[in-house]
Amino acid sequence: MPNTQDPTPMKPFIAGNWKMHKTAGEAVAFAQALAGELNAAQDRDIVIAPPFTALHAVSRSLAGSGIKVAAQNLHWEREGAYTGEISAAMAVEAGCSYAIIGHSERRKLFGEKDEEINRKLKSVLASGLGPIFCIGENLEDRDAGRTLAVLGSQLRKGLDSLTRRDIMETVIAYEPVWAIGTGRAATPGQAQEAHAFIRQTLGKMFDAPPAGIPVIYGGSVSPGNIRSLMEQPDINGVLVGGASLYVDSFVRIVNFDK
Ligand code: PGA
Repeated sequence: MPNTQDPTPMKPFIAGNWKMHKTAGEAVAFAQALAGELNAAQDRDIVIAPPFTALHAVSRSLAGSGIKVAAQNLHWEREGAYTGEISAAMAVEAGCSYAIIGHSERRKLFGEKDEEINRKLKSVLASGLGPIFCIGENLEDRDAGRTLAVLGSQLRKGLDSLTRRDIMETVIAYEPVWAIGTGRAATPGQAQEAHAFIRQTLGKMFDAPPAGIPVIYGGSVSPGNIRSLMEQPDINGVLVGGASLYVDSFVRIVNFDK
């Protein structure tokens, strides 16, 4: 169900996931440079996800800029004996507006399962943060023709027992694992096929075609390929890793149509 049928076109949603890069000092310097370049852009949602140690300082330095801050991961409990974890309430207090949940590096390197991701999504939604929920197939799945089956399963398990209202607060990020950090982005056609499937599946799961849910693409997004990706009718934005670490390339991605 292409979002072109939506009478109010959605703002592009452009997010940068810094992963384990930048100290708090480096992150604040970057955020200030970014805010200077982007000049309170109203016509798109811009989000950056620094490491936990920089969240508070970055969100303070971005006050008034319109640029929002996301955590890269959260625990589902509010507090407790969970060494090394932080909760959604802590991220809210640090100035976050969003949290990335279920990134493929969390799934692959830290063993996160769909059930834990579902608990995390619920706690993020209960805290008032907007989840950026990541799904995507690996190369083996794609080569075996299982891409859509994998995406369907991740959506059903990850979003289990969420409400229609919850889903309207959620950003879905399609990130094929084989495209992350490899320089080999999905073609616009491959991404569009997955995005259209995701939108249709959400429509069935939540009993209405949710044209208003942003479905964004991630995996080797660059200033060179952003425009062709954003031309696809079901791609509402991007989640950028490597190219979000440099002010110049991230600004070019944010301003892809200017
Ligand atoms: P990449 O990472 O842009 O470096 O491929 C994307 C992501 O992991 O979100």
